[in-house]
Amino acid sequence: MAELASIPTVHRDAIAEVLIEPERLQTRVTELAAEVDADYAGRDVLLVGVLKGAFLVMADLTRQLQVDSQVDFMACSSYGSSTSSSGVVRILKDLDTNIEGRHVLLVEDIVDSGLTLDYLVRNLRARHPASLEVLALLSKPDPARERPDIRYHGFEIPDVFVVGYGLDYAERYRNLPYIATLRPEVYEHQR
Ligand code: IMP
Repeated sequence: MAELASIPTVHRDAIAEVLIEPERLQTRVTELAAEVDADYAGRDVLLVGVLKGAFLVMADLTRQLQVDSQVDFMACSSYGSSTSSSGVVRILKDLDTNIEGRHVLLVEDIVDSGLTLDYLVRNLRARHPASLEVLALLSKPDPARERPDIRYHGFEIPDVFVVGYGLDYAERYRNLPYIATLRPEVYEHQR
């Protein structure tokens, strides 16, 4: 278990297990930034973060990049219970930027069923970017299919609900500096 001192006091009793420590997150984000730098050398890249979950990976990734880059954000919601996605995606905030002819890198926090990503990729492709690639910090195993859309991939995690480093449960825990699971009581209290 990571240093409890680094867990905000209000969250201390809620954490079950730390799956990815802050150092591993930072190391992997640095490696991904180096890959992006190599691939986009000499080009201008627009990073599109998917709110809210991708806000921390966007902040860390963009500060590591050497290539010319800009940022924009989209927000979408997928309906369903609070710990699973229904696949019905609605755009809550669209891009400020016209991406036609741009090199776009979509930055996702986590790919679970892949339905949100499928929707966003189709939606952005329809706007005719010069190129469109995907960076996903986390993904859960999907025996049903490969993840052909993900060019830059941080970590595969077990099929469990996780919080931290941008990811929430009921809008809490986004500020944890690592990826963790929650104790079952947390979900019971929410009901
Ligand atoms: P998908 O459409 O099933 O791939 O779900 C993707 C979205 O669901 C992510 O962008 C997250 O917002 C949310 N999500 C999926 N799994 C988790 C999780 O374990 N913790 C927090 N949010 C999750």
